[in-house]
Amino acid sequence: MKKENIILIGFMGVGKGTVARALVKQSDYFAVDTDDLIESLENKKIKKIFEQDGEPYFRALEKKCALWCEKNIKGSIISTGGGFYKQENLKKIGKVIYLQSTFEAILEGLKNAPNSKKKFKKRPLLSNLEEAKKIYNQRIKEYEKVADIIINVEDWDENKAVKKIFKAIK
Ligand code: S3P
Repeated sequence: MKKENIILIGFMGVGKGTVARALVKQSDYFAVDTDDLIESLENKKIKKIFEQDGEPYFRALEKKCALWCEKNIKGSIISTGGGFYKQENLKKIGKVIYLQSTFEAILEGLKNAPNSKKKFKKRPLLSNLEEAKKIYNQRIKEYEKVADIIINVEDWDENKAVKKIFKAIK
C-alpha cells in the first residue's frame, strides 16, 4: 500500500524543515520542501523572487507547485512555505499537520539560532516584525481550520514533535 504524504504547515520559522528532517531520520520517508522546489524551478532564491517578480508571482508559483505535488509526490514528508496552506488542493496532497507555536516563541527561536541573521534575511515577510505579527494573527485560525492534526512545537523539541506526529498518523 502506498503511504499518504504528510504536509507540514505553519508560520515562518516555526521549524517545518527541522521537523521534516527529524521525521525522515526516524522513518523511511523522504522529504521535500515546497520553497526548495520553487527555487529550483525558477533557479532563484525566494528572496530574489519576491524582490524581482513580486509576491503575486511567488503565490502563482506556489499554486503551480501544489498541483505538481498532488500529481507527483507519494509517500513523502512535504514541508511548505508559511503561505502554502492556502492552496485549494492542499488536502488532496496528503495529511495536513499544523505546527503550532506563539509568535513570541517563533521569534525567540529564530533569534537564538546559530545562523539567525540568515534565517531572517531569507524571509522577506519577516523584514518588518509588526507586519509579520499581523500576518501571524490573520493566519492562526486559518491554519487550524485546514489542519487534520495540530502539533504544538513551542518547546522547540523536534524529537517530541516527531513522536507526537507518528502517534497521530498511526
Ligand atoms: C512565506 C513563508 C516562507 C516563504 C516565503 C513566504 C509566507 O517560507 O515561502 O517567504 O508567506 O509565510 P517559510 O515558512 O519556510 O519561512
